[in-house]
Amino acid sequence: MRRFVKMGPRILVGESGRIGLGLVVEPMKDRFELKLRDGTPVIVRPLIEEDRPLVAEAYRRLSPEARYQRFWTRTGEMIGDVMLDRLIEQDPEKHVTWVVLDPAREFPGVGGASWWRNTTNPQEVEISAMVLDDDQCRGIGTLLLAVMWLTALRAGTERLVAYTLMDNRRAANWMRDCGGKGDWDGYKLCFRWDLHDLDSLPVTLAAADLAAWLAELAPLILEAE
Ligand SMILES: CC(C)(COP(=O)(O)OP(=O)(O)OC[C@H]1O[C@@H](n2cnc3c(N)ncnc32)[C@H](O)[C@@H]1OP(=O)(O)O)[C@@H](O)C(=O)NCCC(=O)NCCS
Repeated sequence: MRRFVKMGPRILVGESGRIGLGLVVEPMKDRFELKLRDGTPVIVRPLIEEDRPLVAEAYRRLSPEARYQRFWTRTGEMIGDVMLDRLIEQDPEKHVTWVVLDPAREFPGVGGASWWRNTTNPQEVEISAMVLDDDQCRGIGTLLLAVMWLTALRAGTERLVAYTLMDNRRAANWMRDCGGKGDWDGYKLCFRWDLHDLDSLPVTLAAADLAAWLAELAPLILEAE
């Protein structure tokens, strides 16, 4: 089994606590200052109660297509309270939602992802991810996938599963390129990742990016006190 080691351009946290592009980060629990591959500094952290307006505004800013691809509903620009509660109310054993924020922007939200633990099969979590339209293809989805992977491992689970509509080619290609094993259940595509198996990650840019983030974030998420 492969361990979480350096892959790609980033540098694994060393004894000095030095990571990434020369940034020194204290191991703060669950709030990370990172850099996207284009050098943009971002903050990655779980959603908190005070983020309700941020989530509502991010939902409003999505294109109708992206909103449908993530939420499978065409109910307009306003997120309902039930969905908002479902995203924000968290339990690290059962459900988490993390966001990527660009603190230099007036509206900092650029993406978010969640997982929910399967109640009948607690070894499995279902993930979903969302990146604002203009920020897609910058590596934010893959960063969020790495965070979902590690927080699910930390919760003691073994598999990620993600569902996508058949015509959502962008998400399906991305999940496949990140190493998800895909099945068609007659209604939707279902991708699965074994969290302990890094050996079967494919040789793609997305999987190299994913492995690099796993290497960088594993000490912060799995080993933080
Ligand atoms: C699916 C989604 C989350 C992906 O997020 P993203 O931020 O665009 O993903 P990334 O930027 O990490 O990866 C996208 C592409 O960049 C490419 N990429 C990754 N690393 C790269 C690198 N170093 N250099 C160049 N390209 C790279 C990836 O290969 C990927 O291309 P591919 O899809 O052809 O494999 C996003 O498109 C989205 O929010 N869609 C709408 C909602 C949705 O469909 N959600 C999924 C269902 S829950």
